[in-house]
Amino acid sequence: MRHGGAGWSDRSGGGYDEAYRQSIERPGGFWAEAARGIDWDVAPATTLGGDGRWFPDGRLNTCHNAVDRHVAAGRGEQAALIHDSPVTGTARVLTYAELLDQVARTAGMLRDLGVRTGDTVVVYMPMVPQAVIAMLACARLGAVHSVVFGGFAARELAMRIDHARPKVVLSASCGIEPTRVVAYKPLLDEALAQAAHRPERCVILQRPQAVAELTEGRDLDWERAVREAEPAGCVSVAATDPLYILYTSGTTGSPKGVVRDNGGHAVALHWSMAHVFGAAPGEVYWAASDVGWVVGHSYIVYAPLLAGCTSVLYEGKPVGTPDPGAFWRVVATYGVRTLFTAPTAIRAIKKEDPSGNFAKPQDLSALRYLFLAGERLDPDTYHWASDLLGIPVIDHWWQTETGWPVAANCVGIEPLPIRPGSPTRPVPGWDVHVLDADGNDCPPGVDGAVTVKLPLPPGALPTLYRDEARFARSYLERYPGHYLSGDGGHFDADGYLYVMGRIDDVINVAGHRLSTGSMEEVVAAHPDVAECAVIGVADELKGQLPMGFVVLKADAERDPAEVERELAALVRERVGPVAAFRRAVVVARLPKTRSGKILRATMRDIADGRPYTAPSTIEDPAALPEIAQALKGI
Ligand code: COA
Ligand code: AMP
Repeated sequence: MRHGGAGWSDRSGGGYDEAYRQSIERPGGFWAEAARGIDWDVAPATTLGGDGRWFPDGRLNTCHNAVDRHVAAGRGEQAALIHDSPVTGTARVLTYAELLDQVARTAGMLRDLGVRTGDTVVVYMPMVPQAVIAMLACARLGAVHSVVFGGFAARELAMRIDHARPKVVLSASCGIEPTRVVAYKPLLDEALAQAAHRPERCVILQRPQAVAELTEGRDLDWERAVREAEPAGCVSVAATDPLYILYTSGTTGSPKGVVRDNGGHAVALHWSMAHVFGAAPGEVYWAASDVGWVVGHSYIVYAPLLAGCTSVLYEGKPVGTPDPGAFWRVVATYGVRTLFTAPTAIRAIKKEDPSGNFAKPQDLSALRYLFLAGERLDPDTYHWASDLLGIPVIDHWWQTETGWPVAANCVGIEPLPIRPGSPTRPVPGWDVHVLDADGNDCPPGVDGAVTVKLPLPPGALPTLYRDEARFARSYLERYPGHYLSGDGGHFDADGYLYVMGRIDDVINVAGHRLSTGSMEEVVAAHPDVAECAVIGVADELKGQLPMGFVVLKADAERDPAEVERELAALVRERVGPVAAFRRAVVVARLPKTRSGKILRATMRDIADGRPYTAPSTIEDPAALPEIAQALKGI
């Protein structure tokens, strides 16, 4: 490979500082060495192309790297996937050899349906092995999957179908939540009725908890279609070809289609397993998330399998399935070495079992690290988990866009002292800068915009699907030469990063990233609403909850409480239950500038209890205390 000088090698015994320095000063050498962990059909001669794309002349297949090569290397009998499902009372192990067989057949089915390299496939599935198999089957053909989280409503699914234009949709008859069976098929039918795009086929996995009616001529039964298919082999694709699109919330109602390529993604994720997480092949690794989020894509599916680990796919909750000991049971049963979840899950366990009584009888001796991400890790939660488990609790910060951790305590390189409240220091490859409004680096302790100096390392998004202009506008234009993360924070004097929260209208509810813009669109569509603003309000359990402030039309003679209830139901129906939008308050006016711009940032300051001043451009200063009053009432 062509690159600038020798790379950093973990075999050289260098610590974190050396690895980080090498990755920033000589990224080509650093990532060329990491690329050796991946099987290439055509090894890349160039590491970093002039356009910022990684391994531009390399060719590979991601599914081969995640599945086939482990079988070829003798791991066929090792568990690849453990599906543990307290909501159905079942558990099932798939070895690498079994996974290969299932994936190859599912790829054969997709091929029979006309899916080819570059075609898109939407996957709308609960946490069942077929969801993982579907993703890998797409990767096998070089087709581009787009997984949509099951907690989104039909309208959100329709928007994604219209944007991704899938040839085929893969779905299931139902998902299972602790208190109810969620029929997915009617949601899919409704989404397809709303969408302008028509996929050629829908393949439906029938689950016994709710068998779906299939639409003649369009829908196929999953099991039958797979049974009838011949296995398909891996198709070699360019490293820069897309592997998947994952829609994530931006500041407007239309989600952003984050694109992930094949080569950079495989290299970075494989590298991260050893160096960020300290995980070795053969170990049991569990990311307690959902395949619909980036954590699920990266750390339930691709990274653990690329690394030859056993990945746990858990269909349940931290509490209520059946009790707050659920996580500890899974860890003890399968000998989980690394557990990754969101702080909110730990808060939920702590709330129901503050003394950790459910953990005590379990043998948790295999567990070496608890990794937490998805939202800020508050020091209280950190201390509780760390006292209970007696192992390092590692906060790490990243996003859908970045695909893998940007700041973390890289235990596989050199564990650094933990500072609660900080995800430690930037991970090798990420040149993180905190910038002030003029684009200058903020001194230690001073908050600014968290950015990453270009080039981004392998695995980060190369673009937004079918929207290069939005990619540039959202991430690259604010600070030329830097990627804008959308988070605010600061470094301390020792280079530890503190990420304090979003500086835009994205909110984080129970580790789920949501757009207040999409909720505002729904609230504004209510016939009695004149105008509205939705902001995130601090919540002890979920981190944040959305709250709507609504001004009714002058002629709307309605009981405010009734409208508030209707709005909660409307957001649930149009955005989905995952939005957890339960609070809307009717107010006399919204704080606005004289030019009519709603002062959302000031509203957020009030909601978070930060000192605020009324901007000189405010139209009616009395509007602010009214918001503060409404917030006190909740
Ligand atoms: N399909 C259908 N509905 C879903 C769903 C899915 N895949 N996932 C969630 N929902 C529904 C839930 O049933 C719930 O509906 P309800 O309002 O009728 O109760 C709603 O969406 C909110 O779900 P959730 O955010 O899971 O909240 P919860 O109150 O049920 O549980 C926690 C709270 C903290 C236990 C839970 O959010 C959790 O475990 N979070 C972990 C965070 C996580 O996985 N983050 C991903 C990034 S790491
Ligand atoms: P998502 O794209 O869904 O993974 O959400 C990414 C967002 O979650 C980030 O932009 C942050 O706002 C937040 N986030 C994720 N991890 C952390 C963390 N460790 N500390 C603080 N915020 C985090």
